[in-house]
Amino acid sequence: MIRNRFSCACIFCAVFGLALAWLLFVSPQTANAQGAKGPVSFINDVAPILQKNCFACHDAKKKKGKLEMTTWENLRKGGSKDDPISAGKSKESLLIEVLRSMGKERMPPLDAGDALKKDQIDLIAKWIDEGAKLDKGLDVKADLVRELRVRWNPPLPFVSYKFPTLINAVAFTPDNKRVVVGGNHELTVWDAATGKLSRRIFTRAERAHQMQFLPDGKLVVAGGRPGQEGDVRIYNIDAGTPKDHGGVPSVDGVNDKAVMLKELVQVDDSILALAVSKDGKKIAAGGTDRMVRVFDVDTGKVEHAVENHADWILGVAFTPDGKGLVTASRDKTAKLWDLVAKESLLTFPDHQNTVYAVTMTSDGVFGLSAGEDGAIRIWQATDKAKAIGKVSKSMTGHAKAVFRLASHADAKNPLVASAGADMTVRLWNPVAGTPLKTLAGLTEWVYAVAISPDGQLVAGGAANGEVRVWKTDGSVVSSFNATPGFVAPKVVETPKK
Ligand code: HEC
Repeated sequence: MIRNRFSCACIFCAVFGLALAWLLFVSPQTANAQGAKGPVSFINDVAPILQKNCFACHDAKKKKGKLEMTTWENLRKGGSKDDPISAGKSKESLLIEVLRSMGKERMPPLDAGDALKKDQIDLIAKWIDEGAKLDKGLDVKADLVRELRVRWNPPLPFVSYKFPTLINAVAFTPDNKRVVVGGNHELTVWDAATGKLSRRIFTRAERAHQMQFLPDGKLVVAGGRPGQEGDVRIYNIDAGTPKDHGGVPSVDGVNDKAVMLKELVQVDDSILALAVSKDGKKIAAGGTDRMVRVFDVDTGKVEHAVENHADWILGVAFTPDGKGLVTASRDKTAKLWDLVAKESLLTFPDHQNTVYAVTMTSDGVFGLSAGEDGAIRIWQATDKAKAIGKVSKSMTGHAKAVFRLASHADAKNPLVASAGADMTVRLWNPVAGTPLKTLAGLTEWVYAVAISPDGQLVAGGAANGEVRVWKTDGSVVSSFNATPGFVAPKVVETPKK
């Protein structure tokens, strides 16, 4: 089982989630229900309640009671009965009847959860009594999930955190001098040598799951908000007009178009995997919707959309020629896909458990995959007729789950770094299939790893916010907690017997 990485299980997220839930769902509604000024708005007040409590069963897929309510038009068509809303007459509206019912017709169904709060029902009733109007400018066919997403505003990151941030992504800047870390609704930039925080870049995405620099120095980030939205965005991390945020120059990567340059895609749930082709012309991204999209960097357009896995995509990498993709999935397989012929060349089943990460040797001869089984498997990725899929080596130093692989495209000194649940980063020679170094010192599961462009440094990021930068010889360059303002409690070392 993977902890914390894709779900909001940590204490911080729970507290933060509650605060957010209060802001989003409780405060505006109570304000309105208590007779605050202005009529009730469908999209701002009513639709969020329906989304949270009803859409799960009344979306286009499930359509329970033949009722679909994710567009205004369909909501007003009604289900097996007629329009559930009688404008101006809440007492005659089926919608209010089912919400107020104590019997088996109650919605949500008795066995599916609690009734809505009185405040919430009163608010919907008030909106109906006010004429059940659709907000101006909103199309009757508009996808309400999308409309609510567009209206959602990300919170400003805390000046200073009481709880550490889970780290899913790290990347070295092209000059090898700084490390960018994915935080909570922000990217943070740290000096690799000193571990000093130099910049905060606020982002719409709650989490950065993977990121990589393009050859032109811009940063591509894949991420999202669990269960709500996922995106791939391109940033200029050095642009913008910095403002002070807890003593750190900070820029607005949400609204400032000089900082957030381009949004390649926005989907309904997190994007978890990202890769840039060797020539920097293509970006591949995949996530919970099981789709891998390949974008042309210049146009920003989707060139390919590959739906090949039965479950979440957790890792993706290009073949060196950019004509193929390797992918890792929660469906327990890694796959090799030919983008030109648009066909699957290989399904690699050996892990028999979640595959978190994939990469390739720089000559494209071997694919490497790793996952919950703790092994990094090296398999033939060429020679379609004969040897494809044949395992050449299995590297098993981690013993526990391996979450991420990073490779350095230096043919002379082949180098792959892996990050795992054993709290280590390990370096390997992927051609020989041999271990090179074990980089220790992090004290939680390591979800993120990166190799510097010059191949000299390795950074690992852990679930408790810790980041460590090593030289490839294993010596520590810097070690810090990449959570702004967070002071980790002092650990008292108990001597080993
Ligand atoms: C767990 C699934 C589930 C959830 C959640 C749920 N419903 Fe339903 N809903 C159903 C089912 C099943 C029916 C059909 C019941 C029947 O026909 O006896 C239904 C029927 C209805 C109907 C009657 C439709 C018609 O025309 O017959 C309305 C109105 C309705 N739901 C509103 C809501 C609202 C409002 C919410 C959220 C507060 C909600 N439902 C949440 C499962 C659900």
